[in-house]
Amino acid sequence: MRPKMEFDPLAFFTPSLKEDSVFIQDDSLSVKAHVQIAIHQSVTSERVTSWHDDSCDECEEEEDALMPLHILDLPMLRLQPPYPVLVTILKLLSPDEVLNFEPSNRQQNANPDEEAIFREKAISSIHLKNALTWLNNSCPRLNASAKLSLVPHLSLALRANFTNEYNAYMTRIVSNELSWMSEAEKEEVQSLASMRISENCGRMAQPQLKRKIHLANLEKYGREYIYLNEPSMTNDNLGLKTWGSSLILGSRLLRVSTGSPFLKEPVLELGSGTGLVGMCCCLMGMVTTLTDLPQIVPNLQTNLKLNNLENYSCAELDWSAPGSSPVYGKSFSTVVVSDPVYSSQHPHWVVNMISLFLNDDINNNSVLIEVPLRPSFENERQLLWKLMSDQFVEVESEIEDGYDDFGEMKFCYKRFIRKI
Ligand SMILES: C[S@@+](CC[C@H](N)C(=O)[O-])C[C@H]1O[C@@H](n2cnc3c(N)ncnc32)[C@H](O)[C@@H]1O
Repeated sequence: MRPKMEFDPLAFFTPSLKEDSVFIQDDSLSVKAHVQIAIHQSVTSERVTSWHDDSCDECEEEEDALMPLHILDLPMLRLQPPYPVLVTILKLLSPDEVLNFEPSNRQQNANPDEEAIFREKAISSIHLKNALTWLNNSCPRLNASAKLSLVPHLSLALRANFTNEYNAYMTRIVSNELSWMSEAEKEEVQSLASMRISENCGRMAQPQLKRKIHLANLEKYGREYIYLNEPSMTNDNLGLKTWGSSLILGSRLLRVSTGSPFLKEPVLELGSGTGLVGMCCCLMGMVTTLTDLPQIVPNLQTNLKLNNLENYSCAELDWSAPGSSPVYGKSFSTVVVSDPVYSSQHPHWVVNMISLFLNDDINNNSVLIEVPLRPSFENERQLLWKLMSDQFVEVESEIEDGYDDFGEMKFCYKRFIRKI
């Protein structure tokens, strides 16, 4: 049986007491919201002050349509909004696709294509039509499709501005009998409302999300984006989400020219997680084997298929029991690994795996490692470097700046070859 990991999910996040400033500006509407985000461990509290820009005369007649959206603008539950109304609003409030580690709507400007928005949020035209009929009479702030189409763009500020009220609104839906709906309608509405609550409770509590990754040079390999499916996190299955190290290492790989002496096929990735690093190797045309624990591999396979990749295989490999893996006995010219140490056993296991699977050929072996510099895992990192130095020579090292869902972070890249 696999030894239990000494793992506390909260210990994984480096507390950051620094205040980041996010400036949300919607020029076409002249609405400005200044969001100060204070991040501490996995709990994010967001405080917002918002104001309308008084200097914009042309915007006055649009004032009624203007936001920031307030919780009181949403359909009031005591008016018994019908199913299409609540489904439409709850879907519009869902977070946008994530681009790298940011909601993509932070990077959009307004002027949205209405139809595209409703399609992206999976709102059917019949639901929209029925919702508008009711909203026209009972919810003046959202009584036109143009106004509704702005909701996704404004939802980030709404959640930041009125976090408690937002959660309370959703909780009221979840706890209401919704006696005016059928059982199936009630179930759908309540499940959407509970997803909206969980999205507001930090990354670790979020439901499934789709992440779009853009990296410089991807176009060179015929892609605009890499797509990553991330199921909701369960237990300590950290490989179900993408971590900042893989973005930096993936981006480094794409900068390297194919055929580089330190990036030769076949490539083995250890602890692939959602697969970003291994996928970059595949895109560069290298035969690549992506590996992880049994509970992570199904989603890894989903992601490989999602991106229509070739040249890859995907296998279970538990570092604590490599003998049962289909890759056992094979050897690789390059081993890549990103963010692999967060328990005292990990450094031993990772170095054992590198030693086991890396080619012995002196001119044909290379290990690329990227780790985040989380202060709470300093000892594990030092142990990793110490164990690596017993068998391998460090030939390159760099500290680099990066970020992930939890904020900015420094990362360390190192490349090693076998000792002669
Ligand atoms: C922090 S995640 C990093 C995932 C991915 N490399 C990334 O950077 O996004 C650590 C990864 O190591 C994997 N891992 C942890 N313990 C493992 C073990 N005993 N055997 C194989 N993989 C393991 C996890 O399943 C997870 O995918």
